[in-house]
Amino acid sequence: MAEKVLVTREIPEAGLRPLEDFDVTVLSERPPERGEHLEAAQGIDGVLSTLTEKIDAEFMNAAGESLKVIANMAVGYDNVDVATANERDIVVTNTPDVLDETTADTAFMLLLAAARRLGEGERIVRSGNWEAWGPKMLLGPDVWGKKLGIVGFGRIGQALARRARGFDMEILYSGRSRREEAEKEFDARYLKLDAMLGECDFLSLHTPLTEETTHLIGAGELEKMKPEAVLVNTSRGPVVDESALAEALAEGRIFAAGLDVYENEPEVHPKLLELENVVLAPHIGSASFETRDKMAAMAGEDLRAVLRGEQPRNPVNA
Ligand code: GLV
Repeated sequence: MAEKVLVTREIPEAGLRPLEDFDVTVLSERPPERGEHLEAAQGIDGVLSTLTEKIDAEFMNAAGESLKVIANMAVGYDNVDVATANERDIVVTNTPDVLDETTADTAFMLLLAAARRLGEGERIVRSGNWEAWGPKMLLGPDVWGKKLGIVGFGRIGQALARRARGFDMEILYSGRSRREEAEKEFDARYLKLDAMLGECDFLSLHTPLTEETTHLIGAGELEKMKPEAVLVNTSRGPVVDESALAEALAEGRIFAAGLDVYENEPEVHPKLLELENVVLAPHIGSASFETRDKMAAMAGEDLRAVLRGEQPRNPVNA
């Protein structure tokens, strides 16, 4: 009998093709209700999940002994309880590399939009209240030639640096380890986060969400940033203390922010929704046609590999 595979959301066709030999259930277009999700887990051999589903001990219990693989269609896997998966010999995979360039595009888009006030401008045009070109209308800081601080200088952080160098920006970075090759490639300078906060004009976050990085940017860090600085977050919402950020933006302690991710998606801190100086995107970091096809295919292929007893390309647990 064909193995049972649960695909938690409707995904690009490229992700279903590798699963043709299995008994596949695609659960829903929207994030499934928890009860529905747990019920559908019963007796499955593999799950292709997305970041909107919590794949925790309760889910693994509901699936039972048969569950062998969790293929998460995202590079981040903070929605998966990897420790519990380890205890049960369940392979967890993710989709690295294929989304680096697209996510860096999103970060740079938010950086430009927040600095040059695109969201505000669009709202003025759409409201019909645009009266005339103005010599002092919607001014913001230049992006080109400024200092960009990158927190987490991995693949996505470096892809952002590549874009920023095209804008003659100076690259500073912080992170757990020094990246000497990348330093040479981008003429980048390594700094402790605290020192970088006070020096950079733009700060972009590219770190996974872990206990250590939860609220990495809070009131104290925002306090150290320049009043003309712009914060960009395309990593995970909880890396930033959202209410501290809303306060800093409301009080003009930093110039603006561009956000793609939030602490309690799809909820957005109500204060942020009222502010003009924040650009709010609905977690679309990797949302290009090409990249989502690649992510879906990668997740599907790794799920199939594990069920066939082969080595998956992107295991996150040993
Ligand atoms: C998206 O947020 C991802 O982690 O792939």
